Amino acid sequence: MKLLVTGGAGYVGSVCAARLVEAGHEVVVLDDLSTGHSDAVPDGCRFVEGDIAEVAGSVLSEGFDGVLHFAAKSLVGESMQEPGKYWYGNVVTSLRLLDAMREHGVPKLVFSSTAATYGEPEQVPIQETAATRPTNTYGATKLAIDNAITSYAAAHGLAAASLRYFNVAGAYGRFGERHAVETHLIPIVLQVAAGQREQVQIYGDDWPTEDGTCVRDYIHVVDLADAHLLSLQQAVSGEHRIYNLGSGTGFSVKQVIDACRKVTGHPIPALVASRRSGDPATLVASSDRARNELGWQPERADLVGIVQDAWDFAQARQEV
Ligand code: UFG
Repeated sequence: MKLLVTGGAGYVGSVCAARLVEAGHEVVVLDDLSTGHSDAVPDGCRFVEGDIAEVAGSVLSEGFDGVLHFAAKSLVGESMQEPGKYWYGNVVTSLRLLDAMREHGVPKLVFSSTAATYGEPEQVPIQETAATRPTNTYGATKLAIDNAITSYAAAHGLAAASLRYFNVAGAYGRFGERHAVETHLIPIVLQVAAGQREQVQIYGDDWPTEDGTCVRDYIHVVDLADAHLLSLQQAVSGEHRIYNLGSGTGFSVKQVIDACRKVTGHPIPALVASRRSGDPATLVASSDRARNELGWQPERADLVGIVQDAWDFAQARQEV
């Protein structure tokens, strides 16, 4: 297939683009490099630097079999401070992309949605039928795009899937997490092990969980990338399918720090700090729908293995 990958210079987008090239697809990466890195675009991809809202039409006019849409603003805290950046950058840009796809007859879309569309869950593990009540602007914009895709699929015959990611982690060789502003737990803890930070702060140890720290469902970025390929292959015209993607097991912040200590051999000092606003106590996915309908199976669910891949990536970056 000839595929457009928006955000293919970013973390998840670059891993997915690399897997698509390996699977024999022709891949064009479109990225404005606002948070991505040009050297993260995998070999074998054609790279177009530009703003989706401006150039999607001209790029798609070449003719494509599908789009994988990763490009987005994705910092929860920032989304509350600067909502316009998220409503324009995520929602308006995605509408432009949908219109360009329609205009140029691109039949398939896979969209990067998020567990943040659900907000505080009533039940764990979270199923796709759970209520969607995002507690932050980031989640609200992703939900708005999901809703737009549902309408476009029904009205215009688009074959679409939204993948609701839980906590993506790990790396794939030279493709991994390189955020200018790092807010995610695993890369922060590994920065301590690498001597780039003094300590990690644990945001609260009085949560209603077994050890008092928040529980999350960490999914290896390669397992996540493989779900994109499966959902693209199985997308059906006129339907918008939504899949939760996690490994199905919850790990606490303390368990993550312990896994990082084991992998790095570093003591990793940790200090208990106050809770971070907007954090739910526990977020774990039910990925039964993805398993049953797509035949997807997470193959790298072991937390130590996930951390090991992230650590190998972080160490290789230090040498660059
Ligand atoms: N945490 C700490 N200390 C830190 C960083 C994080 O204790 O320095 C804790 C957080 O409080 C949370 C857990 O580690 O309990 C994981 O935090 P992350 O920031 O790594 O991830 P989140 O669960 O907050 O967010 C992830 C994605 C978001 C997405 C959300 C969906 O990164 O994009 O899941 O629920 F919106």
